[in-house]
Amino acid sequence: MNILFAASEMAPWVKTGGLGDVIAALPKALRASGNDVRVLLPAYPALKAAFPAAQRVAALPATNRLPATELRTARSAEGIPLYLLDCPSLFARPGNPYLGPDHRDWPDNALRFGLLSHSAALLAGAESPLPWRPDILHCNDWQTALAPAYLHYLPAGERHAATVLTIHNLAFQGLFDPSLLPLLGLPGQAWSIDGVEFHGRLSFLKGGLQFADGIITVSPAYAKEIQTEAGGMGLDGLLRHRADRLHGILNGIDDEQWNPATDPFLTAHYSARRLAAKAINTVALRVELGLPPIAEMPLLGMVSRLTEQKGLDLVMASAAELAALPAQLVILGSGDPALETRLRAMAVGRPAHFAVRIGFDEGLAHRIEAGADMFLMPSRFEPCGLNQMYSLRYGTPPIVRATGGLADTVIDVADARHGNGFLFDAATPQEFLAAIRRAVALWHDTLRWRKLQRRGMRADFGWSRAAQRHADLYRSLLPSSA
Ligand code: ADP
Ligand code: GLC
Repeated sequence: MNILFAASEMAPWVKTGGLGDVIAALPKALRASGNDVRVLLPAYPALKAAFPAAQRVAALPATNRLPATELRTARSAEGIPLYLLDCPSLFARPGNPYLGPDHRDWPDNALRFGLLSHSAALLAGAESPLPWRPDILHCNDWQTALAPAYLHYLPAGERHAATVLTIHNLAFQGLFDPSLLPLLGLPGQAWSIDGVEFHGRLSFLKGGLQFADGIITVSPAYAKEIQTEAGGMGLDGLLRHRADRLHGILNGIDDEQWNPATDPFLTAHYSARRLAAKAINTVALRVELGLPPIAEMPLLGMVSRLTEQKGLDLVMASAAELAALPAQLVILGSGDPALETRLRAMAVGRPAHFAVRIGFDEGLAHRIEAGADMFLMPSRFEPCGLNQMYSLRYGTPPIVRATGGLADTVIDVADARHGNGFLFDAATPQEFLAAIRRAVALWHDTLRWRKLQRRGMRADFGWSRAAQRHADLYRSLLPSSA
């Protein structure tokens, strides 16, 4: 099959979270099983710098307020063809792909990602300037979700690829002023409750949920949660309506990038069989962070976007109790400036217990996965979560709230045969701390702890099973199988 992915992030060049990791890994896994997979991305400065010789393959004309742009092509080191949408007026901005230096959304995000969606639809339709035609257009999150809507409003009978939309996070919906509708080149009829209208605003995500042939979300538990009022963020009715098209497929992890036996960011390599060397990373991490070397205390780690989703309020509400535990805590995060300030403040006066690092640091993220003894993810909601799978692989048992993909991947140690981590239910400091105390106590039981670590490390979270499920879904959407 020919499959075109459209996305706003791809690691290692542009990554704010798990979406970037997935776009780097899933196309690779699908390609390994014989599909021709290509990825459409905005030509952000990081991509232009990585591929200075990217060849121009087409000029895409201006439409309404969407500017004309050039399409360039390059090939990633792993052999994935990339299509880079080169529109400097919209994409030649360094740093975070969505936010300006003031940490606010770029004011023209509707045009920026309207153009990305529109171009994806163009490449998936009969008017594409490219000889290569996809059978499937696979969109990801709101930034590309308008593409199925553009295709839906093409003249009846015009052929185009079947469409799939993955919801990586329902909290981001791409909501804009309705006056943008004609500027984005959408017809007046799109302004309806059966179109892109959402409580008086134009919703990119709704456009995709309404018109994609297949909808995926990134774990089975989250697929259920988003169909409820509590988890549906206003879209649960539409998702229930489209339930027969909605599939929960657990993400995998890239087990080459995230492999403690070969990870170039680590001080010492280790594996389930050579687990003792993990401790060298713990010693080195304490030195890197300036934490006193108290080896008889476990080191808890957290790596996170700093948003409400990730449950940092639980961490901060528990600060005094955490500082009183026989444990140390490192947090690496970036995001909401108010949360950054509060986290920094939490660490002040507690240098022996807390190390807070603000920023986006890929290497330190790997070193925390390897050096920490246990990993914290007290998320309020979590569509899938990759970090808990990385931590399992790194022999760093996760302590997580039982929600979404966390509930699908972490089994509490109360299950003596299958347990691989620690779960708590209610988002309260009491339950959060109780789970941490259980983990800290078990850590002192070295034999049982080693067994727990090894169980996590030996589990298979690679992409091959998930890639297979994606391929099955694509196949079911091809016209021949109708
Ligand atoms: P989400 O996509 O909601 O942020 P995931 O667990 O799916 O959550 O993926 C997060 C990814 O982003 C992981 O690869 C994690 O290591 C990375 N990450 C998050 N924050 C940082 C940071 N401050 N520095 C480096 N990597 C980070
Ligand atoms: C989102 C979600 C996260 C998921 C990632 C990749 O950012 O918050 O849970 O793992 O996308 O699908």
